[in-house]
Amino acid sequence: SIHSNPMNDNFLQCLQDSQPNTTQPQFIFTQEDTNYSSVLQSTIVNLRYSTPTTPKPTAIITPLTYSHIQSTILCSKTFGYRIRIRSGGHDYAGLSYTSHDQLPFVVLDLKELRKITIQSAEKTAWVESGATVGELYYWVSQESRNLGFPAGICPTVGIGGHLSGGGFGAMVRKYGLAADNVVDAKIVDVNGRILDREAMGEDLFWAIRGGGGTSFGIVVAWKVNLVEVPEKVSVFSISKTLDQGATDLFNTWQYKGHGLSKDLFSYNTTHSRRAGNRTIQVIFNSMFLGSIAELMETIKDGFPELGLEEKDCSEMSWVESVLYFSIYPAGSSIDVLRDRQPEPRSYFNGKSDYVKDPIPKEGLEEIWKWCLEEDNPILIMEPHGGQMAEIEGTETPYAYRKGYLYNIQYFEKWDDGSNEASEKHVSWMRRIHENMTPYVSKNPRAAYVNYRDLDLGTNDDADNTSYSEAMKWGISYFNGNFRRLAMVKGAVDPDNFFYHEQSIPPLISSE
Ligand code: FDA
Repeated sequence: SIHSNPMNDNFLQCLQDSQPNTTQPQFIFTQEDTNYSSVLQSTIVNLRYSTPTTPKPTAIITPLTYSHIQSTILCSKTFGYRIRIRSGGHDYAGLSYTSHDQLPFVVLDLKELRKITIQSAEKTAWVESGATVGELYYWVSQESRNLGFPAGICPTVGIGGHLSGGGFGAMVRKYGLAADNVVDAKIVDVNGRILDREAMGEDLFWAIRGGGGTSFGIVVAWKVNLVEVPEKVSVFSISKTLDQGATDLFNTWQYKGHGLSKDLFSYNTTHSRRAGNRTIQVIFNSMFLGSIAELMETIKDGFPELGLEEKDCSEMSWVESVLYFSIYPAGSSIDVLRDRQPEPRSYFNGKSDYVKDPIPKEGLEEIWKWCLEEDNPILIMEPHGGQMAEIEGTETPYAYRKGYLYNIQYFEKWDDGSNEASEKHVSWMRRIHENMTPYVSKNPRAAYVNYRDLDLGTNDDADNTSYSEAMKWGISYFNGNFRRLAMVKGAVDPDNFFYHEQSIPPLISSE
């Protein structure tokens, strides 16, 4: 046999035996297959987890039917494999395709399960987890110019991981998180059963809408509410350097951004720029659900300091605005949203924070100084308020609603794959995160699970997860909702089969 390890043989035999139909396309790729590497790499976005020493799966299964998922679970359980679940592969720590703790594992890659069915009369859609948010945006826009979906800004993010962790983008202030708009789902549980909302019950349905990927089972499809968008939306970007008053303007935004009209989303990216003199550049990237004339009124009333002029703005359809915020060159056709290739790959690292009280100006000046010490950091500040402040913090696992002004994402990417380069950037980010302590949320120091950060803490191993150990990062991601997540986990997966470095530990007795 080409499979030298008898355990592999048995596992693969088990999978093949469960699939009597031999005419179907290949869906199991072992390390001996010539296209194993290309399948593995196809959606790896963070090159830090695509090196020769990165632990690799024994096999990659790309299920063509839900029954392939059921047999992967059952054969994995029988032969002692762990499963990593991959939808779009954007996990910051690569947890959908590698295992930092060296357990034997297989990857279940859902990329062939990406059907999208739109019911425009009832303004809903069923979308399978392997679709990207860009594909969903594209097909919704083909159905109606007045429908949209509120999810992330990067079109190649996968539905499966994104909805599992919450998901926010340019309509978050109007319609909340992607997960807030889920009304039904289908999950394959640890016993291989396919459960919809009614069959899974409200506790599990609550947990999968933001409690982080993997812990509870494999969500194969989601029913979402589509939302109304006007025929035309307006977009603009205004950029200021320190000399041009960036600090004052950013400071004003801290007070006003979360309180502006729900139709307006204006997030900041703060770059440390090398061109000419090094400086900080703050860019206000904005989308308004309405015409330029209405936008001008809104800004005049709510944020005149921005100095917005009509000539800074453009009107376009909602789906075109998705392209405006993404990496595609100006003038690209919306067809690129169906292009599943992730954006140019690089080595990257991210962390997150939440701000409840505006950071004082002296604090901002300190932050700019720290950014100027590093090559190419970006701080992305995403406003909350609006609908986010109207949803209770217990309604879904995402706890940071009322009283949270904005989220900060620290993000850095680089092209040099050496360990030294990685260490330099990672340690800069740890430093700024530490330095930020006085300025950001405390008790808990909040973080966003979709910007996964293993520095917050990890489970020790699958057989010995500890609820109290996991509180280190669990409370950061979910605050008071963490306990309920752990109890749901204890009810649906008490043996902790769906385990990863930051999966929810099962809480069975009251620890
Ligand atoms: P991936 O497949 O890596 O899965 C992520 C996690 O979910 C893994 O733990 C995985 O095992 C689990 N999982 C995946 N599919 C599952 C399923 N079907 N059932 C159960 N568990 C599953 N976020 C945001 O809110 N707004 C934004 O605008 C952006 N933008 C953005 C840009 C870029 C370039 C990156 C790299 C990331 C973002 N994100 C984001 C973060 C993004 O939401 C987050 O990484 C998602 O978890 C990615 O989902 P994928 O399916 O792509 O990842």
